[in-house]
Amino acid sequence: MSFRDVDPDLVGFATKAMRGGKWYDENAGALNVPIYMSNAYRFDDVEDGKNKCYDNQNGHCYSRISNPTWDLFEKTFAILEKGEQAMITASGVAAISTLCLTVLEQGDHAICDNTTYSATSYIFNTLLPKFGVETTILDFRDLAAVEKAVRPNTKMIYFETPCNPTLKVVDIAGVAAIGKKYDILTAIDSTFQTPYLTNPLTMGIDCVIHSATKYICGHGDAMGGVAVGKKKLINRLKEDGLKNLGGCASPANAYIMMRGLKTLGMRVQRHCDNAMKVAEFLEQHPKVETVYYPGLKSHPQHDLAASQMHGGFGGTMAFEVKGGIEGGITLMENLDVLTLAVSLGDTDTLIQHPASMTHWYVPKEDREAAGISDGLVRLAVGLEEPEDLINDLDKALAKIKD
Ligand SMILES: Cc1ncc(COP(=O)(O)O)c(C=O)c1O
Repeated sequence: MSFRDVDPDLVGFATKAMRGGKWYDENAGALNVPIYMSNAYRFDDVEDGKNKCYDNQNGHCYSRISNPTWDLFEKTFAILEKGEQAMITASGVAAISTLCLTVLEQGDHAICDNTTYSATSYIFNTLLPKFGVETTILDFRDLAAVEKAVRPNTKMIYFETPCNPTLKVVDIAGVAAIGKKYDILTAIDSTFQTPYLTNPLTMGIDCVIHSATKYICGHGDAMGGVAVGKKKLINRLKEDGLKNLGGCASPANAYIMMRGLKTLGMRVQRHCDNAMKVAEFLEQHPKVETVYYPGLKSHPQHDLAASQMHGGFGGTMAFEVKGGIEGGITLMENLDVLTLAVSLGDTDTLIQHPASMTHWYVPKEDREAAGISDGLVRLAVGLEEPEDLINDLDKALAKIKD
């Protein structure tokens, strides 16, 4: 056989992403994993059926539980995130809900940061309490307060970093230490960082979640999620959670996510480099009041971000324009290169003004309590030429009245 395995411990990120998963097509020698469009798998005999239905480690049974196209993505992703095992899901939210509904039960308590993705906030503020799980939501910049919130029945500590909309940074090792001290499962949404910038499992976190819809897919054309951790935990999430809750990924999307991994490193590096240039430009612009980007020295947690993100600070930022709601609308309506849309991690730069778009119906006090001021703009920098982004922003910012 001419194919030789690559030892993932001996090669760099991009090589691991391309060859670390060790997959070889015995039949045709195809270089890319096939999209296995099969819901069920034939058993050789009764014994075979018995084994495969009992444990998917013995082979595939049904595509809500496992699928050969998932396998390569999961193996490769676990290597990149430095975990034992990974579980692909239909979306980032499916990964989060599968984790929470598998690990937590009535009478348990969970602690969650007060700045998380909207669906995550819903899960911790509304869904879990509805099923008898008590939650404490607080600002994880104060780790003493997080530790104080621990109760005898606390079963999970959950957070993101950096988080929307103010790009607040949470001390990953600090949260992990609290989890270890009290034997509580810690979970992080590392979507903004990707395994290229940070590996939270190596810092003591138990479970890393990603919305693979974002940088991992990278091209804005497929939804997906992933959870990574120790074999025991991920098997439990698959066997108890995914199998019974049904948040399974389509094989076609698993293929797209696998393809995304092959270029993840170079794309994320370019996202970071472009974002840094755009943030520096915005910071000195007279029509911009504040820029929230952890790569800037002016970010109050720049040093913490630099200590736990390697190679860059991600592609997403927020900034406040002068002129409040009017200022934000003027900016939105005068852009040509940047695209008005939600999401992040795409090739194209996506920009939106929450007060006039995604959050227009939220009462001002509630919006501001969530850190979304009238003039706040969310910017997910893409892979275009940075000068084109800067020129487009400059032209549109100039239209904002003094
Ligand atoms: C940080 C973060 N986590 C989770 C999600 C949800 O992911 P998905 O849209 O793939 O369900 C998002 C979506 O924007 C996100 O930004």
